[in-house]
Amino acid sequence: MKNKFLELKNISKSFGKVSALERVNFYIKGEPEIVGLIGDNGAGKSTLIKIISGIHTPDCGEIYINGKRMENWSVVKSRASGVETVYQDRALAMQQTLARNIFMGRELTSIFGFVKSKLQFAEADRLMRTIGFTSKVFASDSAVVNLSGGERQGVAIARALYFKANLMILDEPTTALSLTEAQKIFDFIRQARKGGSSCIFITHNIYHAYDVSDRCVVLDRGKIVMETDREHTTVEQLVKDMQKIAQNNGKVREGINNARS
Ligand SMILES: Nc1ncnc2c1ncn2[C@@H]1O[C@H](COP(=O)(O)OP(=O)(O)O)[C@@H](O)[C@H]1O
Ligand SMILES: [Mg+2]
Repeated sequence: MKNKFLELKNISKSFGKVSALERVNFYIKGEPEIVGLIGDNGAGKSTLIKIISGIHTPDCGEIYINGKRMENWSVVKSRASGVETVYQDRALAMQQTLARNIFMGRELTSIFGFVKSKLQFAEADRLMRTIGFTSKVFASDSAVVNLSGGERQGVAIARALYFKANLMILDEPTTALSLTEAQKIFDFIRQARKGGSSCIFITHNIYHAYDVSDRCVVLDRGKIVMETDREHTTVEQLVKDMQKIAQNNGKVREGINNARS
């Protein structure tokens, strides 16, 4: 068996008095897989992926890449390990062209350092078509601001694909999208897996998570409370399990309120 690509062991993170993550263990297999990370608002999902992408430093715990313990984990090290994170909306320069957005910060240059714009346009065009952007309305020289929400996510994903990310992280990519647009994102993700990239897909929509994921991990108030393989569960069961977690959550809140009053 291949080493796990990523392994987090006993990761905790607090912000002042708020404990965002408590002793979390999480991994991504060596073979490409799609992992749905589910949980209510405030569950700690974004904090977890910000630790993976090196933005937040955990208070304690260990991070391994391909079985090797990483010291002083950072944004630079995370990217160098092939982790590409797509934050909702914030990732793109709206007035710039689609091609510029795909190659931003990693321009294709000649040996003299000149940006090969024509090549970037051609490559962007090819890439967008391979991932299913067949619309004639836009081209690789269209400004991103003219694209729909789903298409913008597509551009960010195309970037991760082009640079053959080992792991692509999408933080709530489908939240603001229509169902057809969400389906398109699912197709991109599946294509990326075929191309060898794993994906962490964050959502609070169980149906979206179940639809696209090989495995679902549920976070609740900073703790991983459930993990299921798609093969071994149905979406109905997953919904039931999530309801139980929410009920439990409600009881805890009631308890807190009672204690206060
Ligand atoms: N930078 C921060 N400063 C203070 N508190 C934070 C910060 N980031 C997250 N939190 C808190 O940590 C908890 C988990 O947040 P987050 O990871 O964003 O949850 P999710 O993405 O699941 O909605 C929340 O209570 C949130 O208010
Ligand atoms: Mg979040």
